[in-house]
Amino acid sequence: MTYKTCIIGCGNIASIWSNLFSKWPVTHMAAYQKHSKTEVVGVCDIDINKAKECALKWNVKKFYSNMDEMLSQLKPDIVSVCTPCENHYDTVKKILQFPIKAILCEKPIADNLNKAKEMIKLCKEKNVPLIINHPRRYDELHNYVKNNLSHLVGNPKKISFFYSGEIINHGSHLFDLLKNYFGEIKWVQADSEGDGLNILLKFKSGLVGSVLSFDFDDISIFDLSIIGDKARIDLINKPFWDYDYRYFKKEKDLIMDKANIFSKNHSEDIDKKFDREFFVKAVDDTIRSIESGEKPISPGEEALAALEVMMAAIYSSQNEGKRINLPFEIDMILPKAKGELKKWQKD
Ligand SMILES: NC(=O)c1ccc[n+]([C@@H]2O[C@H](COP(=O)([O-])OP(=O)(O)OC[C@H]3O[C@@H](n4cnc5c(N)ncnc54)[C@H](O)[C@@H]3O)[C@@H](O)[C@H]2O)c1
Repeated sequence: MTYKTCIIGCGNIASIWSNLFSKWPVTHMAAYQKHSKTEVVGVCDIDINKAKECALKWNVKKFYSNMDEMLSQLKPDIVSVCTPCENHYDTVKKILQFPIKAILCEKPIADNLNKAKEMIKLCKEKNVPLIINHPRRYDELHNYVKNNLSHLVGNPKKISFFYSGEIINHGSHLFDLLKNYFGEIKWVQADSEGDGLNILLKFKSGLVGSVLSFDFDDISIFDLSIIGDKARIDLINKPFWDYDYRYFKKEKDLIMDKANIFSKNHSEDIDKKFDREFFVKAVDDTIRSIESGEKPISPGEEALAALEVMMAAIYSSQNEGKRINLPFEIDMILPKAKGELKKWQKD
């Protein structure tokens, strides 16, 4: 069967970033076009010129500025929500008025915890899988390291995450990734620096970590370092969704024989190539959850958990770095993103 698909919002993550890069799909449109079971039948943007440009570029027959019109005329099976975060709730609610089979929505799930909870509830009531696009959940490198963590590094002793840019753009990805690796977070303490936050956090397992922010104008970084009792691994995000890693085993220092160091000599343990098809795998997961009724790999509930940690960290930074225990239930609204992602567009 071919699933009829529509995309709402025709910006970077829907289509434009494919102009930058074509080695592997990094947009919803490219992923749907590569997947053998999906066909994009229409796109919609409140800016009709963007919808038209997108439709022409990808050879999609129909484009709209009004999503009701698109959804009622085309009756899609799958809808991608690629609008800004503050619009996800309204759009998902609207889509659910139509007989659709699944929603693939961008991160962060919403700009408010109650809205996110409501989105999850409404999708559940209609039996419509809600998948949030946290691509690292579908990334072979991260899945390999996560599934082989004790073999590779032993027991994690400390972790550190380095990112640049606005916390509201990157926090959903990074907290989802951290939870996926290390489980639930118990508390956070944060201090703001520019548009980012420097965060100290503790997982329920007892593991302690830091999340450190850099200025996007200075460096683009999204790296995770895991220091274990057997080895350390640094997972390095290279533009544009390429990757690199460094892996060093612990050994006795040759000069100071009572000291241990991480040595570079044993990197063959991860001598693998990891594919970059995570976007197509998100589409695969969407279809799998329609066909099997099983929970998707990146469900709304996990995105809600990431949003909750991000909200708690922002709240801590606004309250002199106070330690905030999870669950966090204060009703606040995420500030709007400033549009830094345009830095990823060519002039
Ligand atoms: N998963 C990822 O790695 C990733 C990467 C980039 C962006 N994102 C997320 O994707 C979302 C969009 O980000 P972007 O950078 O593509 O933004 P963008 O500004 O490039 O595109 C958003 C588009 O949505 C349109 N739009 C706004 N309101 C609309 C409405 N009510 N109906 C129809 N169209 C509407 C805008 O006109 C714009 O063209 C954000 O939530 C962002 O956080 C995710």
